[in-house]
Amino acid sequence: MDKPVLLIVEDDDALCTQYRFALHEEYSVRFAKNRVQAMKQVVASKPAVITVDLGLPPHTDTAEEGLELLRELLAADALAKVIVITGSNDRANALKALRLGAFDYLLKPVDLDQLRVVLQRATYLAELDAELRWNQGGETPATWFEDILGATPKMREVFDTLTQVAKTDATVLLQGESGTGKELAARAIHARSGRSRGPFVAINCGAIPETLLESELFGSERGAYTGAHMQRKGKLELAHGGTLLLDEIGEMSLGLQVKLLRFLQERRLERVGGRTPITVDTRVIAATNKDLKTEIGAARFREDVYYRISVVVVTMPPLRERSEDIVLLANSFLRRSCEQQRRKLRFSLSAIEAITRHRWPGNIRELENAVERAVIMARGRFIEPKDLAIEAVPESTGLSLRDARNRTERQVLVEALSRCQGNISHAARELGVSRPAIHDLLAKHNVVAGQFRATVRAPQSAGNDAGADGEESDRAREMQP
Ligand SMILES: Nc1ncnc2c1ncn2[C@@H]1O[C@H](COP(=O)(O)OP(=O)(O)OP(=O)(O)O)[C@@H](O)[C@H]1O
Ligand SMILES: [Mg+2]
Repeated sequence: MDKPVLLIVEDDDALCTQYRFALHEEYSVRFAKNRVQAMKQVVASKPAVITVDLGLPPHTDTAEEGLELLRELLAADALAKVIVITGSNDRANALKALRLGAFDYLLKPVDLDQLRVVLQRATYLAELDAELRWNQGGETPATWFEDILGATPKMREVFDTLTQVAKTDATVLLQGESGTGKELAARAIHARSGRSRGPFVAINCGAIPETLLESELFGSERGAYTGAHMQRKGKLELAHGGTLLLDEIGEMSLGLQVKLLRFLQERRLERVGGRTPITVDTRVIAATNKDLKTEIGAARFREDVYYRISVVVVTMPPLRERSEDIVLLANSFLRRSCEQQRRKLRFSLSAIEAITRHRWPGNIRELENAVERAVIMARGRFIEPKDLAIEAVPESTGLSLRDARNRTERQVLVEALSRCQGNISHAARELGVSRPAIHDLLAKHNVVAGQFRATVRAPQSAGNDAGADGEESDRAREMQP
């Protein structure tokens, strides 16, 4: 069999010689010294694996050029196996590269044995991908838009719209069923906008009790209500210079909608209990899985607010209308889970069939969960339909609103208790509820106030990351037949 092609993007000749010497027996090694040469080599020699030195000319002292090349490589082929190599003091950029989709990273000086292992792993997966593409009778050109994967015309349209709106400060309404990627889209707009260095803040309007939502959004002044000892900034203010995602905006009460409208018109807000308006520069993105027009008809949503937030409307299509994306997404989740679980798996043909037949009412989130589960459940080298547990699944949309509310309620309670160091009266005042109500909440969520008193913290559970990884892979091995 032909040796797999390895492309090394490195501008240091001495290092290139060293790599060639170490790797030429196993790989057909090609070199490129800069971004342009690298992209040419990709077309000419279709490498299975690519290593990229992040410090490429003309910016050898920053990772800019290397990261740009990584983006280009992944845009050309979302499944490209790119290993980045970076200075030992530059872990931050290494992690950034991983987030962009790099396969792995190595710190300089590169340990050649370590490099061999990573290359072997990457080549193995590249071969699986190639086989799978071949089985499917051709390549699907995959595209990433930030963290959003999609190749269907519908998704390309979405990407185009997101690109356009990212350039502006317009308020955007993201609509779509649960699990279609609305939050990802909001993050992508932020990341592509001039505000990307500013904060991205999200608030789930459906999960926060109405009484708390107002101060969560607008903040509160000291003395706004009994027990408000401190001034607290709201999310609108915390997102200053950045973007605020108002998730599940359809759940917001009519009263609060009026206050939001005022902010959207004037870009000024008053904290609860405050008198002086504060001007903040926050871009608002709203998301909903409800049809707001219907909500307006039922007098549950204000038309004037709708017109303010729907300057641009982006609809995230449900997964069942993106059939070509299903396998693409499934493979991408498979690759990620396999890396996390340290397993080598692929879908059997009947699994691929089951995946394409299923209607995915919970959309991409459901697919992601099914694949993660399958990677844990699968025995042997193939994932079978039963591992995916999608055969007889009733239409479920994942997390219900009640679950989300309960989760947030518990979180708000725990946060208040830790701020008040377990003092129930203080926490009650801070949350604006009575002491008996707090006791009910403690019982409901099985929380013990005493554990928040200022005493010595219990040590973190034993073990470090490496240890935990080791356990994972042992467990994974045990599950192999
Ligand atoms: N196109 C995509 N490519 C890769 N991952 C995706 C894509 N769309 C969604 N996901 C993943 O699916 C999950 C659900 O996405 P997200 O939370 O953005 O959906 P949502 O529309 O906000 O859902 P909900 O209405 O339930 O809040 C996330 O884990 C996200 O990373
Ligand atoms: Mg969401």
